[in-house]
Amino acid sequence: MNKTRIIQVSPSVMCADFLHLDREIELFEKYNIPLIHVDIMDGHYVPNFTLGPDFCKKIAERTSIPLDIHLMIEDVDNYIPQFAEFNKPFICIHPEVSYHPLRSIELIRSLNARPGFAIDPSMPVEQFKYLLPAVDMVCVMTVNPGYAGQKLIPSMLEKIEELDDYRSRKGIDLLIEVDGNVSWDNIPAMIKAGADILVAGTSSIFSREMDREDAMKKMNALILQEAE
Ligand code: DX5
Ligand code: ZN
Repeated sequence: MNKTRIIQVSPSVMCADFLHLDREIELFEKYNIPLIHVDIMDGHYVPNFTLGPDFCKKIAERTSIPLDIHLMIEDVDNYIPQFAEFNKPFICIHPEVSYHPLRSIELIRSLNARPGFAIDPSMPVEQFKYLLPAVDMVCVMTVNPGYAGQKLIPSMLEKIEELDDYRSRKGIDLLIEVDGNVSWDNIPAMIKAGADILVAGTSSIFSREMDREDAMKKMNALILQEAE
């Protein structure tokens, strides 16, 4: 493992206990969680609905942990400004929803947010590799977007490796995030393939089988172990 790589976890708060969100955030701060993943779904790009700008506003008022906003929505250019307000967030869009993805990326950057692409499992690296220099992060969807609790699509590990190899060969400063079934068993392979940011949902931090603090301790220990 390259010593300079830092592995970060980004808990997917759509999986959090909404009735005890303050406590969830308290634990994020206690365990030095560096990002908070917020899945925004509009029922059009994906069949599900989840969170929105008001939710992001509440989280941003409660904590200084940066938001890692994943827009699974259509008509992104119209909504990006609403999400750019929250202390320099990552904002990831699915490039196929924008007629001109590079313009959308420039819009995000112009609003002092950190742009990224979220890549559907069906989209090959070939289709977006020339856009990579324009973004700070690529979120590799390792399940079909839209729902928590799904199983890893194994071929996505190859896509992560391909991206890792491409950024190394081209000297592109790019973070690779993985999103979906980032489970205790899948994390080592995901990190080995090149993942830098782990979106942790029901498969790990928000697992129903574990105490939340134990899960956060386990996550931090696993990251330390795998980053060596
Ligand atoms: C799926 C979401 C994921 C999901 C991860 O569209 O983007 O963030 O919440 O949760 P698990 O770990 O259950 O796959
Ligand atoms: Zn997500």
